[in-house]
Amino acid sequence: MSNESVDGTRRRFLTAATSAVGAVGAAAVVWPFLASLKPSAKAQALGAPVIADISKIEPGMRSTYLWRGQPMWVIRRTPEMLEGMKKITGDLLDPESKAPQQPAYAQNETRAQKPEYMVMKGVCTHLGCSPTFRPDTPAPEIAPDWQGGFFCPCHGSKFDLAGRVYKGVPAPLNMVVPPHRYESDAIVVIGEDPKAA
Ligand code: FES
Repeated sequence: MSNESVDGTRRRFLTAATSAVGAVGAAAVVWPFLASLKPSAKAQALGAPVIADISKIEPGMRSTYLWRGQPMWVIRRTPEMLEGMKKITGDLLDPESKAPQQPAYAQNETRAQKPEYMVMKGVCTHLGCSPTFRPDTPAPEIAPDWQGGFFCPCHGSKFDLAGRVYKGVPAPLNMVVPPHRYESDAIVVIGEDPKAA
């Protein structure tokens, strides 16, 4: 075999090998993230509903879950918190939740299917920061009659414990309530509407 034919054979081999590696590499680039996930985590990354066990949330506390890459909060509101929310409706921009920021089953006084549990997306409706949970009262540095809620550190927007926005802040809308349904008293499925009766 001449040097030229040896070089030609080697070149064809290298070209084929490089193409094969390239194809594998492209596939690896397309699915690197999903391939690294376990089946349930992969389904969640694609938007599958999240099963939230809310049985361990203490009264007055909040838990965070991830749905479609975004924080979903469940706040367990005490009777005092629910009473406090009634005192500040005059300070709120849309206290009756007229803007379509929630499913119809959450368009009520407490923005919830069960008043005790508030399910909401933990993202400010101004520019998307995550507000800070401020259940402590009083907090005159936030509002004179603060009854607990959320304060956005980015530009100072304020929301009550139902995610209803205060007047006179940068955020233009109440926070979003995602679709959700109760599987039982302990389990809420975030990302799914209640089953039709
Ligand atoms: S992002 Fe929350 S106030 Fe601007």
